[in-house]
Amino acid sequence: MCGIVGYTGGRPAQDILIEGLRRLEYRGYDSAGIAVEQGGKLEVVHRKGKVGGLAETVANLDIAGTCGIGHTRWATHGKPSERNAHPHTSCGGHIAVVHNGIIENYAELRDELTARGHEFTSDTDTEVVAHLVEEAYVDDLLQAVHEAAARLVGAYALAVVCDSEPGVIVAMRKDSPLVVGQGADGAYVASDMIALIDATRDVVVLGDGEAAKLAPEGIRYFSAFGEEIYEPKVTHVDWDVDLAEKGGYPDFMMKEIHEQPRVIRDTLAGRLVDGHLAIDELDLSHEELNLIDRVYVIACGTSYHAGLIAKNLIEGWARIPTEVEVASEFRYRNPIITPSTLVVAVSQSGETADTLAAIRDARVKGAKVFGITNVVGSPVARESDGVIYTKANKEIAVASTKSFLGQVVSLTLLAMLLAQSKGKLTTNQVRLLFRELADTAEQVEVILSDTAAIDEAALACKDARSALFIGRGMGSAISKEGALKLKEISYLHAEAYPAGEMKHGPIALLDDGFPVIAIATQSPVYDKLVSNLQESKARGAMVVAVATEGDEDIKQHADHVIYIPKVRDAFSAITASVPLQLFARSIAVARGCDVDQPRNLAKSVTVE
Ligand code: G6P
Repeated sequence: MCGIVGYTGGRPAQDILIEGLRRLEYRGYDSAGIAVEQGGKLEVVHRKGKVGGLAETVANLDIAGTCGIGHTRWATHGKPSERNAHPHTSCGGHIAVVHNGIIENYAELRDELTARGHEFTSDTDTEVVAHLVEEAYVDDLLQAVHEAAARLVGAYALAVVCDSEPGVIVAMRKDSPLVVGQGADGAYVASDMIALIDATRDVVVLGDGEAAKLAPEGIRYFSAFGEEIYEPKVTHVDWDVDLAEKGGYPDFMMKEIHEQPRVIRDTLAGRLVDGHLAIDELDLSHEELNLIDRVYVIACGTSYHAGLIAKNLIEGWARIPTEVEVASEFRYRNPIITPSTLVVAVSQSGETADTLAAIRDARVKGAKVFGITNVVGSPVARESDGVIYTKANKEIAVASTKSFLGQVVSLTLLAMLLAQSKGKLTTNQVRLLFRELADTAEQVEVILSDTAAIDEAALACKDARSALFIGRGMGSAISKEGALKLKEISYLHAEAYPAGEMKHGPIALLDDGFPVIAIATQSPVYDKLVSNLQESKARGAMVVAVATEGDEDIKQHADHVIYIPKVRDAFSAITASVPLQLFARSIAVARGCDVDQPRNLAKSVTVE
C-alpha cells in the first residue's frame, strides 16, 4: 500500500525515481510525487492521479539533482489530491518525507506542533513526521529521524531528505517494509524489491526499527538503538528480469493468468522424495505434525479463499478440524488456541497488516504458525515458525491470480503432509495424488489454449448489473473467488452463495437474463447442483456453467458451458478458478475497466 523509492548516486535522480514509481504503481495509484535535492534546495513535485501524469510534469522541469525520494499513494488520511500527495515537507521546505503506513497518534502530534507554530499544508498523517524531524534537526538527519520516530505510534516506512545534507537519504521502518540496495551507480531504497532489481539483485530488508543512511559513497545500517550494523543480512533476489514487463500480453493480469502452469510446476518441484512430501522449511517432525489437533487458516481477500479450499482438503484428508477466518476478525476475538493448534497464515505479499497482527497474536497464545507467502524475507515469512514459499514470482496486477493458484497448490501439499503424518494417507496414495496434482499444470494449459467459450459467456454478461456465483462443496469455495475477481476488476456487483442456500434468499434476485455462474464440475454433489441450475433456469436466469469435459447433459441446464478437463474434486479449485479469472477479465475489458489497477484497491494492504 503506497510505494516508496529513493536514490542517491552519480546519475540524475528524476528518471530513476519515476521508473521506480512505475514499478511500484500497483501498490497505490491515486497520486504521486518526488523530492529531489538540487543545489542545496529541495525541488518537490506532486500530481494527483497515476505516475504517468507526474512523469509528464517532471519531464518538462528537467531537474538535474542526483539524490531524491518518490512516492505513489493509496489514500488513507485525506482524499486523493495534489495537496495530499507525498513527499510532505517541513515549514521552510528544508525536510521532505515519504511514508507508508499509518501514524496513529498524528492528530495529537498535529495539535501539539500547530501550537508550537508549525503550519500544515496537507490533511495527511505523514506531514507530522516532516515537522517533527524539522524540530529535532541540529546537524544530523539520522539522529533527527530517530528522535522523530520515537514520538510516532503506528506503522511506518520512511525515507527522508534534507537540504542541508546533500546526497543523504535516511530510511527507517516499523511494521511497514523497506528494502535497501547498492547498485553500480548509487544507493537505492524502496518499499518493494521490484523497484531495485534493475540496479541490484542483493538487497537488505530492514528489520523492525532499523534504519539506513544512504549516501553516494555507500550505505550504513543502524539498529533500533542507533548502533551501527556492520554486517547486515543480504537477500539475493532471483526473479526473472522481465517480470515487470507485460511480455506481449495486453495487461499484467493476462500475463499472470498465463504463467499459472509454470507456477504449479515450480511450486511442486522437489516436493516429493521417495513417496514423502519434502517441506523441510516447516521444521516440524512427523511426530510433531501428528500432534496437531486443530488448524486455523487466517488470511485476507483472495488468500482467504485459498484458505476455504484448504479447509476442504485438510478436513477431507487429514481429518483435522479446520477453521478459516479473515485475519481482521481473528485478531480481535479470542480464538481457542492450544499448543497443538496450527495457524496457517496465507498472504501473497507477506505484509498485510491484519494477517501480521493475527500471526503475532496467535504466537503469543502459543500456536505454531506456518506462513504461506510469495515474498522471500517478507514480514509474514520472518515472523512465522515455518514458511512455504509459493513460486509465483512477483505479481503486478492488483487482482491476484497466479499467487492464488500458488497458494492453493502449497496448501494442498500441506494438507497431504498433515494427512500423511497422521497416517491417513499411505505413501502410495500420496504418490498418486502428487502425480495428479502435477498434471493440473498441463490441464490449465489446455484451458488457456482455447478461451472462446469463456469470452462468449463474458460478452453475454457484460451489461448485467449483478451476478450470482454458486457451487457446492469445493465449488462453493471456488465460487467465492470467482465473484471477488469479477467485482474487483469490472465493478459489477457479484455475490457467491452455496448453491443449496440459494432458495433461502438470493433466488429472489433472479429474473430474465440474470447471470448465474455455476461451478458444475464432476463431484459428489453434482446432481444437487444441477437441481439448483434448474431452479435458476425456471426463473429466467442466464446460466453459465463451468463443467467437466464430456458432460453433455449440462447443456440442458445452462445457456453457456465452459468445459474444463476432468480432475478429481480435490483439485478442481486449481482448474476451475482459471476460467473464472478469464471470465472476470474479459468482462472488465469489455466494460472498459483498467484490469491491472482497479479503482480504490491496492495490491498490498499494510494498514489496518
Ligand atoms: C488486497 C489485494 C488482494 C489480496 C489481499 C490480501 O486486498 O488487493 O488481491 O488478496 O490484499 O493480500 P495478501 O498479500 O495478504 O495475500
